[in-house]
Amino acid sequence: MGFTFTNLLELEDMARAKVPRPSFDYIAGGAEDEVSLRRNREAYEKWTLRPRVLVDVTQRDPSTTVLGQRISMPVLVAPTAFHGLVHPDGEVATARGAAESGTIMVASAIATRTLEDIAAAVSAPRWFQLYVWKDRAVTADLVKRAAAAGYRALCLTVDTPFLGRREKDERNAFTLPPGLGIANVRPAGLDGMPESERGSAFAKYVAELLDPSVTWRDIAWLRSLTSLPLVLKGIMTAEDATLAVENRANGIVVSNHGGRQLDSTLGTLDALPDIVAAVHGRAEVYLDGGIRRGTDVLKALALGARAVFVGRPILWGLALGGADGVRAVLQHLRTELELAMALAGRSDVSQIDRSLIQHV
Ligand code: FNR
Repeated sequence: MGFTFTNLLELEDMARAKVPRPSFDYIAGGAEDEVSLRRNREAYEKWTLRPRVLVDVTQRDPSTTVLGQRISMPVLVAPTAFHGLVHPDGEVATARGAAESGTIMVASAIATRTLEDIAAAVSAPRWFQLYVWKDRAVTADLVKRAAAAGYRALCLTVDTPFLGRREKDERNAFTLPPGLGIANVRPAGLDGMPESERGSAFAKYVAELLDPSVTWRDIAWLRSLTSLPLVLKGIMTAEDATLAVENRANGIVVSNHGGRQLDSTLGTLDALPDIVAAVHGRAEVYLDGGIRRGTDVLKALALGARAVFVGRPILWGLALGGADGVRAVLQHLRTELELAMALAGRSDVSQIDRSLIQHV
C-alpha cells in the first residue's frame, strides 16, 4: 500500500506532503474562522464514556444495517467532491476501497467520475448524493440515472444553497485543474468551472448553477421522480429534523458539512441529542463531522446515531494509497471501533445505548 499510520488524525499531515497546496486547502479547510470545523472535533472531548466490565467480549460484531442494508460497521463514506484532485482513478478507486471494506460509499453528485463509472466498478451497495441544479431537467436526469445505475438511496444535501466562504479557496483562486470536471453533468455542458482570476471558481459555479430556491415543497417533487429512499443531509436543528420526518424522509444526516458551510454552528455531536429526541425513531439518524476515532463512532451511536459518515480521512487515504489506502482507513476505524466496544463492555452495536455516555 506504500504508507503506514497509527491513527486517522495523522493522515492529514502525511497527505500535506503529497497533495498540491490548493487541493490540500480545499479538502482540509472550513468556512471563515473554521469554528464549526474545530467544534466538530472538540465536541467528542465533551462527552465521556461509561464502560461496563466483566462482560464476555471474545466475539465483537460491529456490523449493522442502514435502510435495511447490512454493512460491516456503522461507518459510511461521506459524499465528497472531486476525488480526481488526489488520485487519477478518482471516485472509482474510492468505491473499490469502500466495497472491499463492506460498507457504503455515498457518491457525490459533483464527482470527477460519472455515477455510471462508479457503478460499473463495484457491485456493492452505494448511495447517490444530490445537489439541485437550477436546470431541473438536469437534476431530474441525475435522479433517474442514479436509480437506473442501482444506487440504493438518494441523499439530498440541504445545507448548500450557496457555498460557504472558504477563505483559503478564495486566496488560492481554487478551480479544477485541466482534464477534471463535474463528470455527471458533462452531457448538459455544465461540467466546467467558470473563469475566475480572483476568488474560488467553485463558489462561482455553485452560485451560478445550483438552485438556492429549494424548499420543503421540492421534496415532493423529488419523491415524484423516484421510489428510492430519501435521506436529507445537513440537518442541525430539532425543528428541521421534525420537518424532515413530516416530509417522510427515511433518514437524516446531522451535519454541518464538515465545517465548510455556515460557520459558528454547534459541533455535530452536540447537536445530535435534541435531533434524536425530535425524530423519536421515525427515521434513521446519521452523523458526520470530525469522526476520526473508534470512540467517536461509539459516542455518536450512544447518543442515538444509527451510523456515521467519514469525509476527509477517506480523501487522505485515497491520496496516499488509492483504493488500498481507502480500505486501510476504513479497516483502521473498524479495528479501533471493535477495541473500543470491547473495552466498553459491548459486543454488538445493539448494546451501544445512552447509558454508555455522559456529558462532562
Ligand atoms: C465535502 N462534503 C460534501 N458534502 C456533500 O453533500 N456533497 C459534496 O460534494 C461534498 N463535498 C465535500 C468535499 C470535501 C473535500 C469535503 C471535506 C467535504 C461534506 C462531507 O460530506 C461531510 O459532511 C464532511 O466531510 C464530514 O466531515 P469530516 O469527516 O470531513 O470531518
